[in-house]
Amino acid sequence: MFLDKKILLGITGSISAYKMYQFIRVLKQKGANVRVIVTPNAKAFVSTTILSTFSEHKVYCEFVEDDLWQNHVHLGRWADLFVIAPASCTTISKLVNGLADNFLVATYLSCPAPVILFPSMDEDMWLHPSTQHNISLLQQRGNTVVEPSTGSLASGLNGKGRLPEIEEMINYIESNFIRQSILAGKKVLVTAGPTEEPIDPVRVITNRSSGKMGYAIAESLYMLGAEVYLVSGPVAIKTKYTGIHLIQVNTADEMYSACNQFRESYDYAVFTAAVADYTIPNRSDKKIKKLDQDLQINLTKTKDILGTLGLQKLPHQKVIGFALETDNAVDNAIEKLTKKNADLIVLNHLSDTNSCFNQDQMEVSFISKDEIQKFSSLSKIEIASKLSNYIIKNWLQ
Ligand code: CTP
Repeated sequence: MFLDKKILLGITGSISAYKMYQFIRVLKQKGANVRVIVTPNAKAFVSTTILSTFSEHKVYCEFVEDDLWQNHVHLGRWADLFVIAPASCTTISKLVNGLADNFLVATYLSCPAPVILFPSMDEDMWLHPSTQHNISLLQQRGNTVVEPSTGSLASGLNGKGRLPEIEEMINYIESNFIRQSILAGKKVLVTAGPTEEPIDPVRVITNRSSGKMGYAIAESLYMLGAEVYLVSGPVAIKTKYTGIHLIQVNTADEMYSACNQFRESYDYAVFTAAVADYTIPNRSDKKIKKLDQDLQINLTKTKDILGTLGLQKLPHQKVIGFALETDNAVDNAIEKLTKKNADLIVLNHLSDTNSCFNQDQMEVSFISKDEIQKFSSLSKIEIASKLSNYIIKNWLQ
């Protein structure tokens, strides 16, 4: 997503400035071009040698360096995005007042690109009316200000003022500035993870599923501009982007009800969840004690969510299912396509040696009524990206 994006990073004098080493490395790994400006005060906290090594470019600080005038206007116009992190109280105040006594502020005043600030300071400084007034002025002028996180501060106190974790910063920028708009206006429903059917208060019947496939698809479609509703069973992972609407459920019945509310409104629905096919109709309210004899549990069928929504789909809606098969894989997948009235089934070839639970690389086929496309050795993120491209190529009007 950051590929070839021009990110200008302004670092100011704050203890958390050292975290920018990692920030630059992640941006570079994601394919961004990075230029760095430091304020004179920032030099007390970071090494310009390390910053220039990681960014693979000289670091700017003074208006004149080695008898050469540094062109802040040119640098400001170069950027696709100006990130000021950490943004200290002093720099925030200078930005508000246009006090261009250093290269960073002068560049800010000449920069037509969007600006995002990550303030970092002690909690009392952050909460002070002067800072809050300055922050609200910056926001009124169109700058994005991300609130600091809460936790232990360099002062030894606990409170608000920490720079967010690098991953959170990157995800925020991706979500708010790098997100594309090709699927803008499209509503997508995604199911993910397992469901859990309680036997008693401490025991459940479930399927093995990490949820990673569904989350990757939700994130991919979200980053292309879609409005995404992710209905997720219990999983250990989180969505990268807060803009994704996460609806957490436990049972198959809860997952069905959550999906059913979008029955008429979704454009594309992707069903990756490993939904339990059976549930316990008369679960015990109390923990079942171990008996001398065997225990019989009566199971009843759950609703097929994809099958139900697939059969009810409206002309503008497209539905994608997933199939995990061991025998007669393609035939079974084609049968599911027809039976569930899906437009596409993504078949995971489970019998292949490189394709089983918790494997990073999978062999999958995209099966529609017109064609079968086979892909070998794809990661879940690559499958998500291929599926997004399939939707755009075949169904986007
Ligand atoms: N699915 C669903 N609701 C269910 C069961 C399955 O929405 N109650 C969806 C899954 O999310 C997946 C597709 O149906 O997209 C296929 O699931 P799978 O378990 O392979 O198919 P089943 O219909 O349950 O058949 P079987 O387990 O016998 O292969």
